[in-house]
Amino acid sequence: MTGVSAMQVRGFLQEPFEMDDFVSHLRSCEVVFREGFYSADFWAKNILIQDAAVRALRPEIIVETGVASGVSSSYLLPALERNQKGTLHSVEVGDPSYRPAGRAPGWIVPDRLRSRWRLHIGDATTVLPELFQKLGEVDMFIHDSLHTYEHVKFELELAYPHTRRDGLMLADDACGTAPLLKSLKRFLRQDQESSVAWRS
Ligand SMILES: C[S@@+](CC[C@H](N)C(=O)[O-])C[C@H]1O[C@@H](n2cnc3c(N)ncnc32)[C@H](O)[C@@H]1O
Repeated sequence: MTGVSAMQVRGFLQEPFEMDDFVSHLRSCEVVFREGFYSADFWAKNILIQDAAVRALRPEIIVETGVASGVSSSYLLPALERNQKGTLHSVEVGDPSYRPAGRAPGWIVPDRLRSRWRLHIGDATTVLPELFQKLGEVDMFIHDSLHTYEHVKFELELAYPHTRRDGLMLADDACGTAPLLKSLKRFLRQDQESSVAWRS
């Protein structure tokens, strides 16, 4: 799909851990979550796969929904930096229950990586239509906001015609969230041409 070899992809999966400053930054942020507060896993494969996909596909424009503290954004941005191209647009409604007290959405994202980042605060149902209107076509769309059937369906149906034909759409928590899985299956049935991969 990307024209990149398996060996190169393996290398991409290692890259974040070769950046000492990035790893120590994440470790220092992780301490804040030790008091039992929930966060996306800082070192999980689903996050690393997004990062490797950015390296392989070299997108100009990525749109993601659901930022919370900004774990996924923190991995996507170094990949854009290594590609030396691309912008990440992140949409977040701003629900404080997803973040430690007093922390802003995306507080984990290192300052030095923010020049390629556009954070849009608001509900995806309002922000996304305007954003897609403005951007036209995007290379990657990543859903990780509200995993209800109706909301996932809304995001995927909106994003699909704006995502480049050979681009990539990803949905986080697809196998762990029944409504998300149902809406994905229904969505994919409508488009027989898409390549589909499942992983939990
Ligand atoms: C699972 S968390 C995102 C985790 C994030 N991707 C990470 O890696 O750290 C889900 C986030 O989606 C946000 N969210 C929920 N409903 C939303 C909506 N309708 N529009 C935009 N963001 C929404 C929540 O506030 C929350 O921060």
